[in-house]
Amino acid sequence: MHGEADTSPSDKRTLWFVTQNHHKYQEARRTLDPFGIKIRLLDSMKTEIQSTNLGEIAKFAAQEAAKKHNRTVLVEDSGLFVKALDGFPGPFSSYVHDTIGVEGLLRLMNRQTQREAYFQASLALASPRGSSQEFSGKVHGTISHKSAGNQGFGFDPIFIPRGSRKTFAQGGTEFKDKYSHRAIAFRKLALWLIRTKI
Ligand code: IMP
Repeated sequence: MHGEADTSPSDKRTLWFVTQNHHKYQEARRTLDPFGIKIRLLDSMKTEIQSTNLGEIAKFAAQEAAKKHNRTVLVEDSGLFVKALDGFPGPFSSYVHDTIGVEGLLRLMNRQTQREAYFQASLALASPRGSSQEFSGKVHGTISHKSAGNQGFGFDPIFIPRGSRKTFAQGGTEFKDKYSHRAIAFRKLALWLIRTKI
């Protein structure tokens, strides 16, 4: 396990975000900060079950990580669902990005006029005793005709959120935090934590 300095597993108020994607961690941190909720990075591998349901994937990984590390953890699973490709790459987004990449996805969309797509983030909060809570966020938009912008990660250079003309990669952090699926899911988590006073 890598990541920030460890604290005792008995520190029940610390929320550990299990991810190896530092962009996701920074986005989550920026969203939770205004609510006064602090998270910490647990830079550890997580188990990813074969499923087309992002919520199930996140929940399984969170419950397993909570037991393994004996602490309350957050796991997020996300993906890009393209309408003209019947929802592909969806749960396989990470693999598709690592293999054919942004340019490969644009090639699959060559001459395609139907360019609607959405990003979804499913978030699971799990305790070592086995309880869990899920939150999700979705942002609708379109796939651009070419890659634009150099901020963010993954498919940010080709996703234009509805109501905008810029890709996530052109818009930068404030823009992303305003519209993104991840920000929506983490805001739901924040409101739930405040409501339940955990
Ligand atoms: P996973 O949640 O680690 O399985 O990875 C999800 C994959 O979906 C990432 O590797 C990206 O390729 C893509 N993805 C998810 N969220 C975003 C986002 O906010 N911007 C760009 N790409 C994303």
